[in-house]
Amino acid sequence: MKIFITGGTSGIGLAIAVQYLEAGHEVGICGRDIKKVQLEKNYPLLKMYQLDVYDKNRLEEAVSDFANQSLDIMILSAGNYSDSALYDLTYEESTEMLRCNIAGAVNSLEIARDHMHLNRKGHIAVIASVSGLLDYPKATIYSKTKRALIQITDAYRSALENFGINVTIIASGYVNSPRLRELNNDDLSKKPFVVDCSYAASIIIKGIEEKKKRIVFPSKMKYLIGFLSILPTPLLTFIMLKRVKRQKNG
Ligand SMILES: NC(=O)c1ccc[n+]([C@@H]2O[C@H](COP(=O)([O-])OP(=O)(O)OC[C@H]3O[C@@H](n4cnc5c(N)ncnc54)[C@H](OP(=O)(O)O)[C@@H]3O)[C@@H](O)[C@H]2O)c1
Repeated sequence: MKIFITGGTSGIGLAIAVQYLEAGHEVGICGRDIKKVQLEKNYPLLKMYQLDVYDKNRLEEAVSDFANQSLDIMILSAGNYSDSALYDLTYEESTEMLRCNIAGAVNSLEIARDHMHLNRKGHIAVIASVSGLLDYPKATIYSKTKRALIQITDAYRSALENFGINVTIIASGYVNSPRLRELNNDDLSKKPFVVDCSYAASIIIKGIEEKKKRIVFPSKMKYLIGFLSILPTPLLTFIMLKRVKRQKNG
């Protein structure tokens, strides 16, 4: 198969790329800095593209070069996050999240649709976050971008289902990725139910194989979010803000 992964230069995206490469598939990855890609061995079936997903033309050129009119799976892992619950975001941090998590994702969905539409088959998988499953006014900008992404992805699923194109939304819990470690000074001890990137990758690949519409992982986080999401908004807001306060106070 031919699989293109946005944000495949590190973290969850790179772990997914490695598992598909190990299984003998052709993989294209992109990111703004391909020099940061760290691999334990050389993969002849891997192609790398340096680009920002906000630049639709560059992304389209890369996907066309890689797929050559036959794209099986497109995975959207490119994402930007800062912990805006713990400190004030800069203008650059906020706009980068909106550019990548929303506009970049829509660019990717459009390009995947155009390529898969040709053969009337394919699978698009979009990595959002469990934080996007919770609806309360004081949620962070990051959570709100992921909530919007879940809804945008649902709209693409219903528009594409008659064209043989499957769409999966992935609501991920905490994954021990370089970015999460960087934001937490390498200390993830206060984050609940953290899993590693290769575990996340295998859950995502299995969910795509099973053509699931929605993947929420890990299971303990799925049940916790399920419980939180039925609480009345004031109580949910109280619990979430208390959690942030506890983190702030160390
Ligand atoms: N780790 C978690 O706990 C967690 C939880 C829930 C959801 N997620 C989501 O999972 C996805 C992967 O995150 P991660 O934790 O693996 O973080 P990561 O290691 O920072 O990976 C993010 C990837 O996105 C790429 N990227 C960022 N902005 C981009 C842009 N504008 N254009 C192209 N590529 C861009 C980065 O590459 P460059 O820097 O080279 O551009 C990198 O390859 C994100 O969508 C994130 O929101 C993560």
